Amino acid sequence: MEVVTTIEQVRKQVKSWRQSGYSIGLVPTMGFLHEGHQSLMAAAKKDNQKVIVTIFVNPIQFGPSEDLASYPRDLERDKIACEKMGVDLIFCPSASEMYTAHFNSYVDVNGLTDALCGKKRPGHFKGVCTVVAKLFNITQPNRAYFGQKDAQQLAVIKRMVKDLNFDIDIIGCPIVRESDGLAKSSRNSYLSPNERIAAICLYQAIELANLMIKQGERSVAIIDAAMHSVIAKQPLAKIDYIEFVDQQTLKSVELLEQDSLCALAVFIGKTRLIDNFIYQHQHS
Ligand code: PAJ
Repeated sequence: MEVVTTIEQVRKQVKSWRQSGYSIGLVPTMGFLHEGHQSLMAAAKKDNQKVIVTIFVNPIQFGPSEDLASYPRDLERDKIACEKMGVDLIFCPSASEMYTAHFNSYVDVNGLTDALCGKKRPGHFKGVCTVVAKLFNITQPNRAYFGQKDAQQLAVIKRMVKDLNFDIDIIGCPIVRESDGLAKSSRNSYLSPNERIAAICLYQAIELANLMIKQGERSVAIIDAAMHSVIAKQPLAKIDYIEFVDQQTLKSVELLEQDSLCALAVFIGKTRLIDNFIYQHQHS
């Protein structure tokens, strides 16, 4: 496994792989890797002859009051995780390698970014799309892997790839959870032991919603109220949003009569966690 920090080094490796006819799978990450990231690497490994993991805490996707400075980092541990997964190349550039002086070009996907996290984190998806477009251009992959954990990010990137004609297949991968249901996240490392226990409420709300749906409930207002009340029982939790939206357009839905995404963001103490599930409509 090679670990490189410059765009030139990546291009050189990618060029030689392309000349040998190898397919390339890309897994973009911000590091502090966990089993969620590793599941993307496993999927990439299965489909492609070469796998590139990028590790870059992208400053332009963090708002001024967000956790850029404190975002967890551990490159040595990440290297071991990648090596174990059979990754061929890690690209871990500095911020100045990615954003040279006078950098001033952005990719901004409209519409889909007005909903959910986009409403709460202005500029976030512009930062995500810009860095992902750059990583696509640098690594020239056949396929790129993203987690369903960040459902809006996945939808926005699929839109960007279609709109801007990137010749890359975007592969969505299922959410990997802890044994108690908490979705794995680098940000879980911020949680104190008490907060870690409280954090289960996101999954409890999802489980309750799924149970209600299984029992035939289709009213978003009723399911949403039940989810709110589960989370409200947890004094350390503060709901940022719970929303039901159309899976493609991310527009709000009131009745579950089409494939829908239920996404939630909840503060546990100071840590903002996200989770979601998909309702698949059975057409009769
Ligand atoms: P990061 O939060 O490090 O996540 C990297 C990838 O891992 C994303 O596609 C994310 O959805 C996926 N992932 C995270 N937790 C997961 C889980 N529990 N199960 C399955 N997949 C999971 O998302 C980003 O970084 C950045 O925004 C990035 C796309 C790298 C751009 O900077």
